[in-house]
Amino acid sequence: MNESDSSLLEQAHQSVTQRLGERRPEIGIVLGSGLGSLAEELTEAVALPYATIPGFVGSTVPGHAGRLVAGRLEGRELLAMQGRVHYYEGHSMDQVVFPIRLMHRLGLKTLIVTNAAGGLNPEYRPGDLMGITDHIFLPGMAGANPLRGPNDDTVGPRFPGMVNAYPTELLGLVQAAALKLDIRFHQGVYMMLTGPNFETRAEMRMLRAWGVDAVGMSTVPEVIVAVHAGLRVLGISTITNSLKPDTTAEANHAEVLEVGQQAGPRLISLVKAILPQL
Ligand code: HPA
Repeated sequence: MNESDSSLLEQAHQSVTQRLGERRPEIGIVLGSGLGSLAEELTEAVALPYATIPGFVGSTVPGHAGRLVAGRLEGRELLAMQGRVHYYEGHSMDQVVFPIRLMHRLGLKTLIVTNAAGGLNPEYRPGDLMGITDHIFLPGMAGANPLRGPNDDTVGPRFPGMVNAYPTELLGLVQAAALKLDIRFHQGVYMMLTGPNFETRAEMRMLRAWGVDAVGMSTVPEVIVAVHAGLRVLGISTITNSLKPDTTAEANHAEVLEVGQQAGPRLISLVKAILPQL
């Protein structure tokens, strides 16, 4: 993060703490495609449009409202990002992860990240949910890493470990809740590609050979920055479509949105079930 970003972060912190008043959010949640309605369930809520927060950029993607919403749910204080920005929209990695840096600055300890993803594991069906056990960050490995540049040692180490990025205790909580609620739930490896194009069949074969269960265009930059700053991370993907290397059927955004929206209530009930235990 460079100096102008740190000064923006300071301004964002001031602007948001002023408007949050007495609220002290503990848990951050990034609401991906189809999940935005969770923010409507927050009580005593205050909503801050991204356009009013220094350093925030708006999402240009249908299905992503652009508001930061603080409020209570299941007895916990949440800070929800109703809509996220993606690297493929043309934003820099620093812009993509700016809200997570702010969450850390606000003292949040836990981050729940959600997304829509294409299923590569042949056992996954559209509408299933997947707890992220691990990730492959191809853009980051190729240089587009949000931690590139000067390191703020007060936030985290220069060379942060990622082996325990997704703590198994959090995954265990979700797995148990899914069983109780009779929700189809898997645990698997998420791969972030830049997008915005969907994968070719050769890419699908490559990803599967690399052990990838689900692929999407977001989430990992946020996770890397959260783990660097010492937050506990829980990631959940909605499998919105199946990627099959042996067919010519194309994935499409309308399907991603529709299935994401249908699965929304299941993901919301899952998140609500585990909140008191976080
Ligand atoms: N590929 C990449 N990203 C996605 C997909 C997909 O099939 N579905 C939802 N996000």
